Amino acid sequence: MTVIGILGVGHLAGLMVRGLQGAGYRLVLSPRNAETAARLSAEHGCEVAASNQAVVDAAEGVFVCLPAATGAEELSQLTFRPGQPVLSAMAGTGLARLQSVIGPARAAVTMMPGYANAYGFGPSILCPEDGFWRDFLSKTGPVHAFADEKTFTAAAAFGAFSGASFGWMAHVIHWFQSQGLPPDTARALVAATLRGNAEVLLREDRPLDDIARSVVTEGGISEMLLATLAFSDGLHAWDEGLDRVLKRIGG
Ligand SMILES: NC(=O)c1ccc[n+]([C@@H]2O[C@H](COP(=O)([O-])OP(=O)(O)OC[C@H]3O[C@@H](n4cnc5c(N)ncnc54)[C@H](OP(=O)(O)O)[C@@H]3O)[C@@H](O)[C@H]2O)c1
Repeated sequence: MTVIGILGVGHLAGLMVRGLQGAGYRLVLSPRNAETAARLSAEHGCEVAASNQAVVDAAEGVFVCLPAATGAEELSQLTFRPGQPVLSAMAGTGLARLQSVIGPARAAVTMMPGYANAYGFGPSILCPEDGFWRDFLSKTGPVHAFADEKTFTAAAAFGAFSGASFGWMAHVIHWFQSQGLPPDTARALVAATLRGNAEVLLREDRPLDDIARSVVTEGGISEMLLATLAFSDGLHAWDEGLDRVLKRIGG
């Protein structure tokens, strides 16, 4: 069984461990945040190592979920084997920085939504292409690899888009509730609408603009809503927010 070491046992690691359940990996966790490590050990059969270095030593590949601000510094204290696959999910840590702190090991970077990966539906991005990590990530959703890091970094802004989409969904669900819908119904209606529409984009091979035009009847209510959003600059605000995120993560 392939052994994966996970450094940083917090929110993302917990979700990935759930998504990887039954995928054929032996998971070895770093000891800090002992409560979460113990829970993941009890619920998913992970092992907990005695130190971060023991994680690296036990693992074929190391998946890094350390805090974005301090993780690279922590990695620089550890010793990796030549060619050992190391995959970082830390937002804003580029390939060159990662490679510089893991010495002779083999660096790759990734981003994923997290929660959806726990259910096997979370897309991951990967740079550069790496068969070891493609197999690993594909257990929790579809994988898109990028040869060019600049494009990868632009794509990585989808991590923020994903998180923000929950805020957007909650906002709209609350609107329906405020009109008298029971909370469960409002939630199910909004979520299933978005899931259905996402399936349309994934399954149809018609151009995106054709599909968008075909669902917005001239003079109809969808056009009215879109026009209101455009008038308030609500659509443009997504560009502005994504531009800010891209700048933060190094694009
Ligand atoms: N959350 C997501 O869905 C998501 C998605 C994609 C990428 N990411 C990236 O994944 C990374 C982790 O995010 P997160 O949301 O999982 O954060 P988190 O919940 O804060 O988890 C980070 C974990 O690392 C631990 N840690 C800190 N310093 C450590 C050290 N020196 N050695 C071992 N463990 C250490 C923290 O322990 P303490 O709590 O004791 O400090 C915490 O348990 C970030 O770099 C983020 O950019 C997150």
